[in-house]
Amino acid sequence: MAGPLQLKKGKKLLIAPSLLAADVLNIESDIERLGGEADWLHVDIMDGHFVPNLSYGPELVRALRRRYPDAFLDVHIMVEPAEDFLDMFISAGASLITVHAEATSHLHRVLQKLKDAGIYAGAAINPGTSKELLMPVLHMADLLLVMSVNPGYGGQSFIPETLDKTRMLSEMRESLGLGCLIEMDGGIGPKNIAQVSAAGCDVAVAGSAVFRQASPAAVIKEMRILSERG
Ligand code: DX5
Ligand code: ZN
Repeated sequence: MAGPLQLKKGKKLLIAPSLLAADVLNIESDIERLGGEADWLHVDIMDGHFVPNLSYGPELVRALRRRYPDAFLDVHIMVEPAEDFLDMFISAGASLITVHAEATSHLHRVLQKLKDAGIYAGAAINPGTSKELLMPVLHMADLLLVMSVNPGYGGQSFIPETLDKTRMLSEMRESLGLGCLIEMDGGIGPKNIAQVSAAGCDVAVAGSAVFRQASPAAVIKEMRILSERG
């Protein structure tokens, strides 16, 4: 069974580049361009039903696990019903699977299944979803994902109102003494990383802001420095 999900020692914020923004014909060389600066690798799985786009399947996760045995694979599944897709991503080698609260009628069961499988369990909410949907599972989720764009595409604009949800969840976590991490995903980059971090976010996903730049490694370093100024 995996131990509690924690921030790496001395880190205020983890950065998880989203491979959705990588060059599909050169994913491996794009990962090398991260120069070891990424804390996690974020893999977006889209079903063309829960979200209006298709992306990768379990074979990418399996190939990443084979190539990078020690990488933390943060697998964000935007698929419905989420429970039908767990086994294939567990066996592919995900470190953490995050399911959307809106994409299952059985959020508790899904999170329990992930924990029983010995991997970390995350619960996500869309910008239009109230944080109340997460309340019944706060004690068991390893990670809460507050979407800062409507899921489906990379390169969208950050929705600033979502910061309030992160702030409230972070305060609630504090007052209840819970150990889960809070992640935000979508439209994040050097411009807003300080605000994201100041709101109480522990893991920032960034796709376009990292991979669509000349030096992805430099952008991650810059984001880390800027996050300290929140
Ligand atoms: C959106 C995905 C995000 C996306 C982030 O549905 O869940 O992970 O790849 O990409 P950027 O950082 O470009 O908004
Ligand atoms: Zn994502």
